[in-house]
Amino acid sequence: MASPSQVLVSFLLLSSTLILASTNPQNSTDGAVGMDTEELMGLFEVVGALLEDPDWAQMHPYPCTDTPWPGIQCEVGQEPDSMFHVTKIHVGPDVATPACKSSPKLSQSILKLPYLKVLSIFNCFLTTKVSLPSYLFGASSSLEQLVIKSNPGFSEEIPTTLAEVATLRVLSLSQNSFYGGVPKELGGLSRLEQLDLSYNHLTGEIPLEIGGLTSLTIFDLSWNRLQGQVPCSIGQLQSLQKVDLSSNRLVGRVPSDIGKLNKMVLLDLSHNLIEGPIPEALSGLKELEYLVLEDNPINTGVPLFIGKLGKLTVLSLSGCEMTGSIPTALSSMGNLTTLSLDRNKLTGAIPSSLGSLPHLGQLNLSQNRLSGEISFPVEFVTRLGKRLDVGGNSGFCTTPSLSHYFDAPACSSSAKSHNRSWDEKHGRGTDDKRLKPSWYDGNRNSNASVGTQWGMLLWCFSSILTVILMGFLC
Ligand SMILES: *[C@@H]1O[C@H](CO)[C@@H](O)[C@H](O)[C@H]1NC(C)=O
Ligand SMILES: *[C@@H]1O[C@H](CO)[C@@H](O)[C@H](O)[C@H]1NC(C)=O
Ligand SMILES: *[C@@H]1O[C@H](CO)[C@@H](O)[C@H](O)[C@H]1NC(C)=O
Ligand SMILES: *[C@@H]1O[C@H](CO)[C@@H](O)[C@H](O)[C@H]1NC(C)=O
Repeated sequence: MASPSQVLVSFLLLSSTLILASTNPQNSTDGAVGMDTEELMGLFEVVGALLEDPDWAQMHPYPCTDTPWPGIQCEVGQEPDSMFHVTKIHVGPDVATPACKSSPKLSQSILKLPYLKVLSIFNCFLTTKVSLPSYLFGASSSLEQLVIKSNPGFSEEIPTTLAEVATLRVLSLSQNSFYGGVPKELGGLSRLEQLDLSYNHLTGEIPLEIGGLTSLTIFDLSWNRLQGQVPCSIGQLQSLQKVDLSSNRLVGRVPSDIGKLNKMVLLDLSHNLIEGPIPEALSGLKELEYLVLEDNPINTGVPLFIGKLGKLTVLSLSGCEMTGSIPTALSSMGNLTTLSLDRNKLTGAIPSSLGSLPHLGQLNLSQNRLSGEISFPVEFVTRLGKRLDVGGNSGFCTTPSLSHYFDAPACSSSAKSHNRSWDEKHGRGTDDKRLKPSWYDGNRNSNASVGTQWGMLLWCFSSILTVILMGFLC
């Protein structure tokens, strides 16, 4: 899709071909739209330090007009400037030729591009160990988006001078090798809307100063080695919609201040060392659709308030040491599509009302201590198929029609409490027992014929009769 600036550039490309017919890229003298030489040379130096092709400058002498390159965008400055300025440089797989150099550099000449708003580099710095030079960024920069992604060559600390780029709205340094801490100075970027530092080697604590990122909508620090607690100051980030702090080493509790973030859609704190209880304040997250807390030592019951999160579609509490029974309150979450409670210590029966959740397509209750009767509608069981997983529990019985789905015996009225492990230990199969009278159960093991059993019964009866008669006689 074309952004407004792309449309503008395309339009100007057409019109300027006429205007610039035979001009050089220097400042125009007669009101025509040109380009500042200094800026153009700066662009050649920046591109030359990144890309393999030594002839790039010759091939693209007028990169804003006659000889464009897809990784570069320009805009015309406002009157009375009327000059083309480079506003975007993008290097990535979608702009694959020419390829990046084997030892690319971020040229200092970026400073000669004062109108640059977007710098995005994907898959370029692959092997060389480089730093993101602090001198490239500062108060004079008008950069709005800095996206340096999948460049494992960046293996130094994140420069604190980034915090001086007051215009920054998007800072994405995902999938590199940055180490050291999250600079607390970044908290001063009050216009920042997206901060993505995921998949690096960052250590230390999440600085309290992130509370200053008051425009933030996306906050992603996942897949690092961050320690300490989630700072309470996160509660000040009223615009947050997506918070992903998963796969770190965070400890402590979920701060209850998170409950104030009533625009939040996704909260992922999975694969950390976060303890319970989960604060009830989270019931304030009225827009929440994804709550992913799997693999944390929460070690409490499944909180009832979760049932109030009406928009929730995905709830994962897998591997959270959850105890107690599955609350029926979960059955009120009409938008739920995925419910994962596997690898916990849950006991009791499965609420049959879960089977009436209209959109539920994935239900994993495996590896718990659940037992009792499974009584889902057949329609529900066939709809979910293999995505309904109740394996590795204490043993269930079920209605005859579902018996073969769950490899569980049918619940007979007197044997509802029987569980599968007990049955297995006593050599029982999963045969349908509803056809036999209940007293039959106790003798299933013996090879005795029905005749012998009738004999036994007669013997018992006569013994009892004898005892009664004896008592009568004495
Ligand atoms: C082009 O014009 C700008 C001001 O608009 C000036 O700063 C710059 O030095 C000029 N460059 C050349 C090569 O004349
Ligand atoms: C499901 O979500 C919609 C909006 O996404 C909402 O209007 C509806 O109330 C939700 N359902 C329940 C049962 O809360
Ligand atoms: C359910 O969870 C278990 C344990 O985490 C996992 O091994 C299994 O693949 C899951 N089942 C489904 C259907 O996703
Ligand atoms: C299974 O049932 C038997 C007898 O009903 C009971 O003794 C046993 O504790 C049960 N096992 C579990 C794991 O609930």
